[in-house]
Amino acid sequence: MADPQHVLTQRVQSAIGAAFGSEYADTDPVIRPSQFADYQANAALALAKRLGRKPRDVAADIVAHLEAGDVCSGVEISGPGFVNLTLDEDWIAGRAQELLTDPRLGVPRQESQNIPIDYSAPNVAKEMHVGHLRTTVVGDALARVLEALGHNVVRQNHIGDWGTPFGMLIEHLLDVGEHSAEAELLTTDPNAFYQVAKGKFDSSPEFTKRARERVVELQSGDAETLRLWRELVDLSKSYFNRIYAELGVTLTDADLAGESMYNDMLPAICDELESTGVAELSDGALCVFLEGYTGRDGSPLPLIVRKSDGGYGYGTTDLATVKYRVETLHADRIVYVVGAPQSLHLRMVWDTARAAGWLPENVEPVHVQIGNVLGEDGKILRTRSGQPIRLMALLEEAVERATSVVAESRPDLDGESRAAIARDVGIGAVKYADLSVSHDTEYVFDFDRMLALHGNTGPYLQYAAARIRSIFRKGGLDPREATGPIRLGEPAERDLALALLGFGPAVRQVGDTLEPHHLCGYLFDLAQTFTSFYERCPVLKPDDPAVRDSRLALTAATLHTLVRGLDLLGVRAPERM
Ligand code: ARG
Repeated sequence: MADPQHVLTQRVQSAIGAAFGSEYADTDPVIRPSQFADYQANAALALAKRLGRKPRDVAADIVAHLEAGDVCSGVEISGPGFVNLTLDEDWIAGRAQELLTDPRLGVPRQESQNIPIDYSAPNVAKEMHVGHLRTTVVGDALARVLEALGHNVVRQNHIGDWGTPFGMLIEHLLDVGEHSAEAELLTTDPNAFYQVAKGKFDSSPEFTKRARERVVELQSGDAETLRLWRELVDLSKSYFNRIYAELGVTLTDADLAGESMYNDMLPAICDELESTGVAELSDGALCVFLEGYTGRDGSPLPLIVRKSDGGYGYGTTDLATVKYRVETLHADRIVYVVGAPQSLHLRMVWDTARAAGWLPENVEPVHVQIGNVLGEDGKILRTRSGQPIRLMALLEEAVERATSVVAESRPDLDGESRAAIARDVGIGAVKYADLSVSHDTEYVFDFDRMLALHGNTGPYLQYAAARIRSIFRKGGLDPREATGPIRLGEPAERDLALALLGFGPAVRQVGDTLEPHHLCGYLFDLAQTFTSFYERCPVLKPDDPAVRDSRLALTAATLHTLVRGLDLLGVRAPERM
């Protein structure tokens, strides 16, 4: 076990049990990083209250019973009763050495849960915007991390592929011709297609009438209408897939589980809610009134599951997602990576599902709230003319800007290599910007900041990895052959080895909190720790071959960790930069 905090927790916990008896044996020793040592145990203060003794005496008792000679080189009582713990150099070296041959790099394998994860969810024949970008990027990183921790992740791309707009979209498709250039627009600029259809819907009563009739045919399952609907969905799918390929996200057609998939479940859902009394009719609409949900004026706020015209809403479909994910996917945890404004909606859906008995107590739904991405004016990011930003255009601009960064840093490379690097850097920068802040914070989209080669950015970490690769190239060495043994002498070597032990815990923390920024912060710290190490400790030059072997091994372990960490975030690490 390479996680020092975990090891120290076990050891101090045993000491507490030995000192104060079995009823104290599961006390959390509260091991935290310390300013004065590597870690400190803070449990003595709370224990002292329970025991009615002085905290310093309690701490002394813990220390007297602590068996940690192999792990710690120093154990000291400080302040009111903290136990400062300094890790033994050989212990750290031994754990770092184990990481070198561990393909998991210390990432724990957890008891496997079934985890459906709902993310991306763009809408057919509409633009994918920066909000969809952020759920796609965050969701994909979470899927990768949860998989790495040993879970059975089921990606669910809940695309918007059903509803009344399809009447007008189908009629417009017929007007322009299925094989026309206008129809092709759906694969390149779907919003343009949508806007024309909407324009006609708003201005031509004849078109509006056709569109409405088409909705009815769609709902009644008319074969030709369904074929046209599928055509629209397929064209949109190819657009989504182009974006996914550009982004390097793991979503495929097999992960599509759109709104239309749940159609057949909706009538039964309403019937059951009505017959069990969870829902009631109110002004012709079938509504669920839950305790604790009121509107601004204090009146009860319903979740409408069937409108008075018989149509179903977003809430009904999401109830179906809960049912499907529990009953068919056997979910232990259900993750919804969805915009923060949907929070009330999702809570009402889950409470309704609980009331209906579809969401058992032991299944935990989680809303990973996605915050807005803002423009420099502090409002939701849009083009100058007020249109939503086209995602493809945004990604193209990122790559274009990265191209000039790389042209400056690597004029020696040929154009083709530079273009490949620029792609990784530009896309990596945009993705990392979404990941390095809490998923629910709003942030201002700023190309200059995200592409900077300093600070907590994707390019900084990519550069750190590329620089390590160049050290090995310079030495004519292969990082996979740098196997140590690791020996620690200089403080900077010790710091780096200790930092490497933090990878597994950082990945676990992302799995627990569903916050990828913990991993970003960890990798950023690691890269900085490596820089300090590299400034103080020559890697290729030492005369003593043992020192050189050890430093090369630490350097290689840093590279493996950076590359694997970026990979878990879905960010590519180019060989050269
Ligand atoms: N398609 C929706 C949108 O673009 C997001 C759907 C999120 N997922 C869900 N299960 N509600 O806003």
